[in-house]
Amino acid sequence: MPQTATVLVLNGPNLGRLGTREPEVYGSATLAAVAAACASLAAELGLQVDVRQTDDEAELIGWVHEAVELRLPVVLNPAAFTHYSYALRDALAMRTAPLVEVHLSNPAARETFRHTSVTAGVADGTVAGFGVQSYLLALRAVAHLLGPA
Ligand code: DQA
Repeated sequence: MPQTATVLVLNGPNLGRLGTREPEVYGSATLAAVAAACASLAAELGLQVDVRQTDDEAELIGWVHEAVELRLPVVLNPAAFTHYSYALRDALAMRTAPLVEVHLSNPAARETFRHTSVTAGVADGTVAGFGVQSYLLALRAVAHLLGPA
């Protein structure tokens, strides 16, 4: 039996507050609900997910290093790190498997500082603006990039 591929679904700062954090921008789903939706779609796609969140840049970079070493695909919502973390970008540039950036909101339609992503340029692609669906579309993109098991 081939092993089920694990996709790391990594979430940056303040995303642990989903559900109560600016629901008019980010929706009312909690991170636990996002994780459950990802796990359910992953099972359909023959994948499994490991969903994590941190407010700490060093911890997030450590998880990216882990993905690099274990050749794990990553779905990443870098949150505010998107806009300024060159350290995160440099870690992501070492990737050894598919990487899809996600955003719940559409940063291009928001404040100017959100229009720049320093991380998107090292990803296979970005899905933004569709709420929880952004994560699910990103998982489908990873499945597509991985090809048949
Ligand atoms: C976000 C957009 C970022 O600009 C913001 O800093 C976040 C969330 C999103 O999912 O829409 O924390 O990444």
